[in-house]
Amino acid sequence: MSSKQEEKKESGGWKEFFWNPRTHELLGRTASSWGLIILFYVIFYTFLAGMFCLTMYVMLLTLDDYTPTWQDRLSTPGLMIRPKGEDLEIVYNIKNTESWDQYVQALNAFLTPYNNSQQVLNNDACAPNQYYFQEDSGNVRNNPKRACQFNRTMLEECSGLADPTYGYGSGEPCVLIKLNRVIGMLPGKDGQSPYITCGAKKEGSVPLVDVSYFPPNGTFDLMYYPYYGQRAQVNYTQPLVAVKFVNVTLNTDVNIECKINSNTITEFSERDKFAGRVSFKLRINSD
Ligand SMILES: *[C@@H]1O[C@H](CO)[C@@H](O)[C@H](O)[C@H]1NC(C)=O
Ligand SMILES: *[C@@H]1O[C@H](CO)[C@@H](O)[C@H](O)[C@H]1NC(C)=O
Ligand SMILES: *[C@@H]1O[C@H](CO)[C@@H](O)[C@H](O)[C@H]1NC(C)=O
Ligand SMILES: *[C@@H]1O[C@H](CO)[C@@H](O)[C@H](O)[C@H]1NC(C)=O
Ligand SMILES: *[C@@H]1O[C@H](CO)[C@@H](O)[C@H](O)[C@H]1NC(C)=O
Repeated sequence: MSSKQEEKKESGGWKEFFWNPRTHELLGRTASSWGLIILFYVIFYTFLAGMFCLTMYVMLLTLDDYTPTWQDRLSTPGLMIRPKGEDLEIVYNIKNTESWDQYVQALNAFLTPYNNSQQVLNNDACAPNQYYFQEDSGNVRNNPKRACQFNRTMLEECSGLADPTYGYGSGEPCVLIKLNRVIGMLPGKDGQSPYITCGAKKEGSVPLVDVSYFPPNGTFDLMYYPYYGQRAQVNYTQPLVAVKFVNVTLNTDVNIECKINSNTITEFSERDKFAGRVSFKLRINSD
């Protein structure tokens, strides 16, 4: 055979493979063979789609409207501060009103829902030093659930009411601390509420700082727990602890660390040095 003939045969072979008029085969398969393959895939994918829908349906059935199925089970919930500057810094100059006005504005906005008038309207006056349990009875939902009043006046000198600058203008700034919400968490036992302590971190020369706490002793009262979630406890008001820094060494970076103390929340672990505590830089300039 010459190479030309060979070429012709080969191209004819390709053509024949695509459509063979003799055997009526398309790409090497007969119409019924193709039909069976298509039928197989149609059934196969219908089956897969059905499985997917069934799985989704079962999953949605098991989801609870009121509590997330997947929730971080932290032994130590996080703390956060307000006002929250960039990089957890509170840096300002007493003489420059504009440098601290942003903090005052942030606190005003944050504390608006805490106004006594608002709290009386939304929430209950609960008994202190005990949990406010509102459990469901079996499948019968006890919803919506009530929440306890946290009055703005409880922050006393840090409420922004008597002193609308929250101490920023006089170099004794207030910082609010909140404990991250964890559904169902019971943060204390035997009527002892968890409380916040703050101090300057010892790095070289220890700067001076005295701290006052509001409410007294810096407690998150047990009445605000357990938290049942935003859907169930619609008017929940997160309790706060205000810390007021007095006699702060001026013109110096003071690294403050605040932590939660509790008889049920375990001490921080080596694995997570940030659990149950928050650190931030405080610097008050005076010139
Ligand atoms: C909350 O109280 C502050 C200070 O008294 C007041 O300026 C503000 O208008 C009040 N806000 C609401 C929503 O009542
Ligand atoms: C909150 O303030 C209102 C009005 O000032 C008062 O009636 C209520 O008892 C206070 N609640 C608490 C828990 O102190
Ligand atoms: C939430 O607050 C509103 C008033 O703002 C009140 O009418 C409602 O009853 C409260 N709901 C619950 C569950 O406490
Ligand atoms: C604050 O703590 C002290 C000592 O632990 C205690 O005697 C006092 O009753 C506490 N005050 C409040 C308001 O809980
Ligand atoms: C702040 O320091 C001054 C003098 O160093 C002292 O007299 C005052 O008692 C201190 N205030 C507080 C609240 O510690």
